Amino acid sequence: MKHTVTTLHKQKIDGDKITMLTAYDYYTARLMDEAGIECILVGDSLGMVMLGYEDTLAVTMEDMIHHTRAVARGASKALVIADLPFMSYQTSVYDAVVNAGRLVKEGRAAAVKLEGGEVIAPQIKAIVEASIPVVAHLGLTPQSVNAFGGFKVQGKDEAAAVKLLADARAAQAAGAFMVVIECVPEKLARLVTRELDIPVIGIGAGAGCDGQVLVYQDMLGMYGGIAPKFAKQFADMGAAMKAAFMAYGDQTKAGTFPGPEHVFSISDEVMAAVQKVAAHGKGA
Ligand code: KIV
Repeated sequence: MKHTVTTLHKQKIDGDKITMLTAYDYYTARLMDEAGIECILVGDSLGMVMLGYEDTLAVTMEDMIHHTRAVARGASKALVIADLPFMSYQTSVYDAVVNAGRLVKEGRAAAVKLEGGEVIAPQIKAIVEASIPVVAHLGLTPQSVNAFGGFKVQGKDEAAAVKLLADARAAQAAGAFMVVIECVPEKLARLVTRELDIPVIGIGAGAGCDGQVLVYQDMLGMYGGIAPKFAKQFADMGAAMKAAFMAYGDQTKAGTFPGPEHVFSISDEVMAAVQKVAAHGKGA
């Protein structure tokens, strides 16, 4: 069964938690799809976990299209959502629709995600009117890192908590089919989830949301930077990969790799003929 905006909405109604992970390449997306993950997010976090930037701000539309296309090829059932990168939608409603269209047309995403609620509602409405499903990202919105003064928990005081709820309602009213809330207190996330008719996906927002999303490098222990508190590590692939790279280096230096089982054979007759040619070449 292919996951769609309709099946995800039904999951909210049925209380069936929605699973989402980020991916940025074909093979990882394929593994997630085979594992039954329902949504794959091509996050602009790729700037940090794939390209080595310190934040997401330098990510371009070209980066997003390139990685979205690869993920879309690997996802046959999961709904692929692609992030609109910094300054691809804030500048105007027109830019938002054109760039959302590029992620769908060139990247083959099924939906797009952008950061913000009330302020960005005209963009959400226009993209939805162009028949492109929209996810609104609220709370700790990484594209606002400089405005926030760092990656910090959001919605802790009364004004900020009330604003988060207002933003979530505005995103829903503008036509968003899903909201992602990042790094907000658990009780507030639970309230927002209860108040909205559309699915609310949490990251650092507790188990009361309709589903969860994680950056896959965080959950596999593959990111060298500081992992956030909410990022449970489900495997230590970083350590396993490093150990494999070291074993390869050691065996190559020791001459024990490749072994007899990794090589191809040739007949003695052919080798004798080649040796003759080689010897003749030396004499000339
Ligand atoms: O870019 C991203 O990976 C995200 C998730 C953290 C939700 O937006």
